[in-house]
Amino acid sequence: MQIILGIPGGIAAYKSADLARLLANDGHRVRCILTEAGARFITPLTLSSLTAEPCYGSNPDQGEWRANPSIEHIELARWADLVAVVPATADIIGKAANGLASDLLSTVLLATRAPILWAPAMNTGMWAHPAVQANLARLRSFGHSVVDPDDGILACGEEGSGKLAQVAAIAEAILMHGAPKLSSLIGKRVLITSGPTREDLDPVRTLTNRSTGAMGIELARAFRDAGAHVQLVLGGDLPAPWGVETVRVRSALDMLSACEARWASADGLVGAAAVADQRPETFAAEKVKKGERPETMVLVRTPDILATLSAARRPGQWILGFAAESENHLAHASAKLQNKGLDAVLVNDIQGGRAFGAQANTLTPILAQGPQAPIGPLPKDELARAVVHWWGHQLEARGTVQ
Ligand SMILES: Cc1cc2nc3c(=O)[nH]c(=O)nc-3n(C[C@H](O)[C@H](O)[C@H](O)COP(=O)(O)O)c2cc1C
Repeated sequence: MQIILGIPGGIAAYKSADLARLLANDGHRVRCILTEAGARFITPLTLSSLTAEPCYGSNPDQGEWRANPSIEHIELARWADLVAVVPATADIIGKAANGLASDLLSTVLLATRAPILWAPAMNTGMWAHPAVQANLARLRSFGHSVVDPDDGILACGEEGSGKLAQVAAIAEAILMHGAPKLSSLIGKRVLITSGPTREDLDPVRTLTNRSTGAMGIELARAFRDAGAHVQLVLGGDLPAPWGVETVRVRSALDMLSACEARWASADGLVGAAAVADQRPETFAAEKVKKGERPETMVLVRTPDILATLSAARRPGQWILGFAAESENHLAHASAKLQNKGLDAVLVNDIQGGRAFGAQANTLTPILAQGPQAPIGPLPKDELARAVVHWWGHQLEARGTVQ
């Protein structure tokens, strides 16, 4: 990708150097534009050294913004596949929301037809101010993306919202724009379940499994990058990916109700969660003491989420299931496909502890017509992209593109 990184005068400007380095090392071309205030926080020398590209400023008299041999602001606006402003100050957000073009960065932001992404960072009071929020809402209404700031202790000593998002999260949001889209998935609403469920016995004890949720999170990223609108219903403790609407759940019952609330408006479902089949019959509100309870635990069945949603599906909705099997995996997965009325099942062979938390994994897709060529072994992020690619092409071939 060809990325313009606009760096205004915020205290977090030093983090932009790290972002520029990360993107350049990943093979992208990065050209930085400093505002006059930005140049007080970080130098052009640092940025041009890290990116091996020129760094631009605001002063035409010092050759930072040239009229010759090309008109620089138009040339840069055309060159960019994406313009990111990191850290976005209240000032530049206000200028761009109102169409002002008083320096090179604000002029490029007005002239470009490339996607624009903002990563704001400022004092909590500034961030909460209605003027800043109204300006950001206006930028969103122009189709710009915003990576919201994190909560934390700010440089000014205050604690609250306004801290620049993690550099890795900003990089992920930038790179999402460059990922190839799949026509069968653009704008489609995909509901994904991921992670373990936890079935509590009392406030301290729980029944769970060894799933981490990593695979479902990578699938959420891959569907998002392919152009889908993703809703992720997530168990476990892993952080949610950027740009994915995430609902955190604990038990199988929580997961089912979160899915039921969203299923009717979805185009497809990916059931990647490791849902507990049973839960304790009773939950004790206070911690159970030794000897207070019989040594045998009574378990009851949890609802079958995939089967429940499959029974409620409307025409055109598709469902991808996952199966983790330790023996006879293809036969078990084919039975799951038929019994639950799924469109495809991706089988994980978990013999010998494979799959859970493992770095590289293989999935074998099963369709009604039988097993397909295995996908992998690949690291989970690449595997997720390969699965989404495979499924996107299946949808195209089936003519389900609406
Ligand atoms: C030490 C210092 C830190 C600043 N940090 C921020 C900041 O984090 N966010 C912000 O919106 N403004 C911050 N400002 C204010 C901006 O630098 C000021 O509004 C400036 O006019 C922004 O210009 P620009 O948006 O053209 O870069 C800071 C100012 C100073 C002196």
